[in-house]
Amino acid sequence: MSPKEAAAIAAADLVPSDAVIGLGTGSTAELFVRELGRRLEDGRVRKIVGVSTSVRTATLARELGVPLLPKHDVPEEIAITFDGADEVDPAWNLTKGGGGSLLREKIVAQASRRLVIMVDDSKLAPRLGATFPLPIDVVPFGWTTHIPFLERLGVQPQLRRLFDGEVFQTDEGNYVLDLDFRSRGGIEDPKALHEQLLSRVGIVETGLFLGMATAVVVGRPSGAEQLTR
Ligand code: A5P
Repeated sequence: MSPKEAAAIAAADLVPSDAVIGLGTGSTAELFVRELGRRLEDGRVRKIVGVSTSVRTATLARELGVPLLPKHDVPEEIAITFDGADEVDPAWNLTKGGGGSLLREKIVAQASRRLVIMVDDSKLAPRLGATFPLPIDVVPFGWTTHIPFLERLGVQPQLRRLFDGEVFQTDEGNYVLDLDFRSRGGIEDPKALHEQLLSRVGIVETGLFLGMATAVVVGRPSGAEQLTR
């Protein structure tokens, strides 16, 4: 079993019955949805309904018979959400959006009473931005106008593209710019950076998830553990 799978299976022990569950996006979230499907089938989990953070996750959940709320239907309160992350710092702040779904993920996380993050141990970072570029979600209109602003912040933005060279578009039809802070050892002040980025019209959201995670489950070759603090 891979460390990601170990984390996803251990996190599934935290799924309550009779509840609305947020379903994240990415390879770890997909392993979680697969485990949820198995537990629904054998009765270990009952009467849950999922809120998906992407078309990709919704498609998988439907294939596996995991019930979902209708598209765009996000309740004011979600009991618990299970998602992956690109980086987790020692204070459980996160970078997310490697899969491009950061906007929907953040809307669902914001509505969730609990946010369980499932990662393998390679995602534990000393500082956000130290090991993975930070994605931001921007509307396509006028996206190039952000370039000089971002360069003044000391980063060279990369427009995310698919393997065939086409520009990647999110489920909302937005673009993703990846901001690489790795050569600077990461992001010095994530909160200040988040606020600076959001002050710009056309930048919709950042992949900085600060103070949102309530639990972190880490998968290692030897098994999974829930972090304590
Ligand atoms: C999706 O947009 C992301 O936020 C993912 O949660 C993140 O990139 C982790 O992905 P993996 O589980 O595939 O590593």
